[in-house]
Amino acid sequence: MSVKRAKISGVGRFLPDYVLTNKELEKYVETNDEWIRSRTGISERRILKDPDKATSYMAVRAANEALEDAGVSAEEIDAIIVATVTPDYFFPATAALVQKRIGAKNAFGFDLSAACSGFLFALSNGTMMIESGRAKKVLVIGADKMSSIVDFTDRTTCILFGDGAGAVVLEETDKDGIIDFVQHTDGDEECMLYQPAGGSLNPPTEETIKNRMHYIRQDGRSVFKRATEGMADVSLEIMERNNLTGDDVAWLVPHQANQRIIDATARRMGLDSEKVMINIGKYGNTTAATIPLCLYDWKDQLKEGDNLILSAFGGGLTWGAIYLKWSK
Ligand code: COA
Repeated sequence: MSVKRAKISGVGRFLPDYVLTNKELEKYVETNDEWIRSRTGISERRILKDPDKATSYMAVRAANEALEDAGVSAEEIDAIIVATVTPDYFFPATAALVQKRIGAKNAFGFDLSAACSGFLFALSNGTMMIESGRAKKVLVIGADKMSSIVDFTDRTTCILFGDGAGAVVLEETDKDGIIDFVQHTDGDEECMLYQPAGGSLNPPTEETIKNRMHYIRQDGRSVFKRATEGMADVSLEIMERNNLTGDDVAWLVPHQANQRIIDATARRMGLDSEKVMINIGKYGNTTAATIPLCLYDWKDQLKEGDNLILSAFGGGLTWGAIYLKWSK
């Protein structure tokens, strides 16, 4: 009996038009272009300015492009997973809004919250649905309007994040596709990177708003250390499990949090820099969208049979990796 696998058959994205440069950030906080570029690799990021547009707006556009790229109609989709930490509402799920707006009338859907590992966890879950035979076509979306939870008076966080969405269509195949994945969570460090208020622990009050508790807070140095170790460890873990060396890997598709974290991961994997997808300079950290945005930017360079390692780290703490053999 042949093995049932999931493969990525289409990729789409949406990026808002507005470009927020490091230079412009200098107007809001005490920072400068040289500091931001040398510490993070970021030059600019995109911001969804329209007040009446949210994460679902970007997710729908990315989804429609992915469906077109795959040659799949919305009615054929069995399930929609939207990875996001900036849903339009707590409920209904952003996936429900996407389901309606793209016309995926046969799909069920839900949101998945795993911060910067969200897309990776969503892709792993979509893969399990297909491998189990419960679904044939799954839409996996990573979308975040980070500007809705970024404190533009906090120079330690506002320089990092941007808005965007990426989507892939996952389809059943008996050939190459997603071969293996690893997912980790460590809830010990819930306050290392989080949004303190808005949930059931600290519902919105005058006090929470006054104390700016609805914005991202992070201990940047600790996150940096854990992310550098976590992304490298999990990438090596998946390589070892599958007997891969750096020479066997065609591309590292890393979460884009900080260029230095990515460089350290690539070094530990024994990869040359030309095998690493890096677009953090243009988009910053778009949280759940970074990995599909990379796949989109590099899709014309991907060849059948290329070994890709997708790797991410984020709040939770969460981290993981996926090994896939490219086949469209
Ligand atoms: N502009 C100028 N100076 C800044 C600054 C900014 N935007 N932000 C911080 N600084 C200052 C600090 O106040 C500090 O000054 P001090 O030495 O006088 O105290 C100095 O720069 C160094 O700060 P530090 O926090 O040690 O810098 P860093 O090299 O660790 O870089 C981050 C800071 C946030 C870029 C880095 O820690 C990081 O990327 N962390 C991970 C964040 C992340 O990826 N989060 C999402 C995870 S998925």
